[in-house]
Amino acid sequence: MSVDLVLKDGLTVSTGQELVRSIAIEKGKIEGIYRQGEEPDSKELIDCRGQYVLPGFIDIHVHLRGLLQKEKEDYETGTRAAAAGGITTVVDMPNSSPPVLDMQVLQQKINEAREHRYTNIGFYAGIPANMEKMSDNLFRNVLGLKVYPHRPLDDVIYDRERIRECMKVAKRQELPLMFHPDLTPPERETKSVDEYFEIHSCESEVRSLKQFLDANRDLDCRLHVCHVSCASTVEVISDNRQEDLLTAEATPHHLFLCRDSFKMDDGTAKMLPPLRLQEDCNVLKEAISRCQIDIVASDHAPHTSAEKESSFKDAKAGIPGLETLTPVLLTEVFNGNLSWVELLRIGCSGPASILRIAGKGVLSEGYDADIAIFSREDWVVRGEEFHSKAKRTPFEGYVAKAKPVKTIVGGEVVFNDGEFEVPPGIAGAVPIRKVTIPVNT
Ligand code: DOR
Ligand code: ZN
Repeated sequence: MSVDLVLKDGLTVSTGQELVRSIAIEKGKIEGIYRQGEEPDSKELIDCRGQYVLPGFIDIHVHLRGLLQKEKEDYETGTRAAAAGGITTVVDMPNSSPPVLDMQVLQQKINEAREHRYTNIGFYAGIPANMEKMSDNLFRNVLGLKVYPHRPLDDVIYDRERIRECMKVAKRQELPLMFHPDLTPPERETKSVDEYFEIHSCESEVRSLKQFLDANRDLDCRLHVCHVSCASTVEVISDNRQEDLLTAEATPHHLFLCRDSFKMDDGTAKMLPPLRLQEDCNVLKEAISRCQIDIVASDHAPHTSAEKESSFKDAKAGIPGLETLTPVLLTEVFNGNLSWVELLRIGCSGPASILRIAGKGVLSEGYDADIAIFSREDWVVRGEEFHSKAKRTPFEGYVAKAKPVKTIVGGEVVFNDGEFEVPPGIAGAVPIRKVTIPVNT
């Protein structure tokens, strides 16, 4: 028997142990995992000796932009950035221009994404003021519903009643309700740096979370808290953990960067939620080992250089994250701060299970051949070298101990030592769905 591809003798991680194994790939799936010398013949062979062969990472919080914001990012640059970062599946947020509130806009995104993709792409929808506008087709094509109580995507205020209506829809459609925990800011024009931090405070994050938890008491919708940034938020999450009903995410920047390290004279480190204090970072890190935080996601939120170079007050909130997520997390592993088991849970299997994505997130027979290969080498993060259009990163100058060297999507080698091996629109699937139902799109 001859399979399509064998990744030979790489370091794989199984139940926390590093093992030398070969991965055989056939028709886009993992055909089997073999001990040294036992692998089948193959049409193609990649020598992976000394390199780490891991499941492709799944980043469930990404703003790929496109549509009317291609100057910030488009599906090609965004998914190139993902592939270059060892990320094989991204899930795109609905706060685009125009926002995703109906199937028409989602279809435009799907069309763009299909043509330009380098990875798998899934989508979220926002919830329009008039919920009747959401068709069955829309629900079938998304992995979750997202709400921004502090900056709604439609003309509606997030009071208790509205929150409950959103929860009921999510529950009925068996989709998770993802939310950005923050309160409506005051109407006035902001803001000095201090005022920005005051408005988007930890208190605001906690109060928003409590509002959602309270609204959900008798509804039992699946709630996912995006980018937890504060120690106090972790405490509320751990007090309210119910199997499967409450999940939470943290970003690399909230885990490893704190406000005091930046001058805040431009927009390089401006994002929402903002960076917090060292003690918040410490509690977030602990929360990962205690399984109070389920996953890590980049919140890749690209803006143009001009939008980030201006004063902190005028700069747009959001930073690129697709090309720093895996290097930062693997560096933590090699520094002994994160176990392999934790890494695979927060970066691969956890995201797949929160969004109920079948066949992904695990390096195992029968799973999709979405694979990321890393070398253990020191290199310095330089935003100028990003494949994303967004070049300003608060991780500038960070010394990483691992580098993504090859990324395989659905059995196709997409990224290989800094080069892209296939044209866009070939590898991966769009849209990734929770369940596969034939739809007429
Ligand atoms: O920093 C952020 N940028 N936080 C958000 O919630 C939105 C995002 C964006 O879309 O730019
Ligand atoms: Zn976001």
